[in-house]
Amino acid sequence: MAVNLKGRSFLTLMDFTPEEIRYMLDLAHDLKSKKRAGICNKVLNGKNIVLLFEKTSTRTRCAFEVAAMDEGAGVTFLDSGSSQMGKKESMEDTAKVLGRFYDGIEYRGFDQEVVEGLAKYAGVPVWNGLTDVDHPTQILADLMTIEEHCAKPLNRVKVVFSGDIRNNMSYAWMYGCAKMGMHYVAYGPDELMAELDQDVIAKVQEVAKETGATIEVSSDPKCLEGADVIYADVWASMGEEAEIPERVRLLTPFKVTEELMASTGNPDCLFMHCLPSFHDFNTKMAQSQMELGYDIREVTDEVFRSKNSVVFDEAENRMHTIKAVIVATIA
Ligand code: CP
Ligand code: NVA
Repeated sequence: MAVNLKGRSFLTLMDFTPEEIRYMLDLAHDLKSKKRAGICNKVLNGKNIVLLFEKTSTRTRCAFEVAAMDEGAGVTFLDSGSSQMGKKESMEDTAKVLGRFYDGIEYRGFDQEVVEGLAKYAGVPVWNGLTDVDHPTQILADLMTIEEHCAKPLNRVKVVFSGDIRNNMSYAWMYGCAKMGMHYVAYGPDELMAELDQDVIAKVQEVAKETGATIEVSSDPKCLEGADVIYADVWASMGEEAEIPERVRLLTPFKVTEELMASTGNPDCLFMHCLPSFHDFNTKMAQSQMELGYDIREVTDEVFRSKNSVVFDEAENRMHTIKAVIVATIA
């Protein structure tokens, strides 16, 4: 049956079938070629979307804005300092109001329950722009980038995520890999393994049985062998800055270095990162933490800038994939 996502919210890849994810990826590839060729069909003419951000953003916000504007939609941006949501107005009332004004709502914040609640009450599609436990639009961009750089189909690709294996990106990768029949390894310290949500692990293992995916958690560097992608993310996510000293202690052995890349045994292994990244000391945060004795770089500058690094293609693909999600759900 033909895929039709009109009217659907995009809260987690777990809500979508492999065919529906395939459809969004194909649409993103197509929209990217069209944009390169200067073709724009303005399929969102007359539509308006609103972006709610309770955490900061560069890529996700700009991707939503450019994607919507490319296709002719109007965009409103609200951060937590400039709306009533959460302070003077409940999430339920906010959703009901915004659903009367807008054709779609993007939300970035803390609890997954908030984005789910917005979707329940808004009456229009809601898109998850990152929560504490998921980042589904990032995974679509990452899958698209892998397809551009890896000669193999996704179901033969092995992704090793090195670092804070209990963060939103690691869980988002579990969902994406489980759905697309891929091999995923969360490579990190035993201490963090103990913090993993076992309900999530059980759910992704169920999906993996159907799709042929392999989802593993390991602290053994042998798991790096044969990786097609080494993926990194910051060691302390937004809102977790107080954890930096402990994370540096736990995660320094999992920093992505040239040695770690070499131990994949794959000279073509891609380096990927959702960004923003600490790979040098050209940020206030990396500098100030170093002054306190904490080197928070999750990847070396050599790997970040190497020929195997596709991080800026990934960043660009945020826009094409987010455009695909908006077009598929509200056009
Ligand atoms: N990767 C990502 O979501 O980046 P931003 O935090 O800049 O949106
Ligand atoms: N884990 C990171 C991802 C940023 C895109 C964070 O939540 O801060």
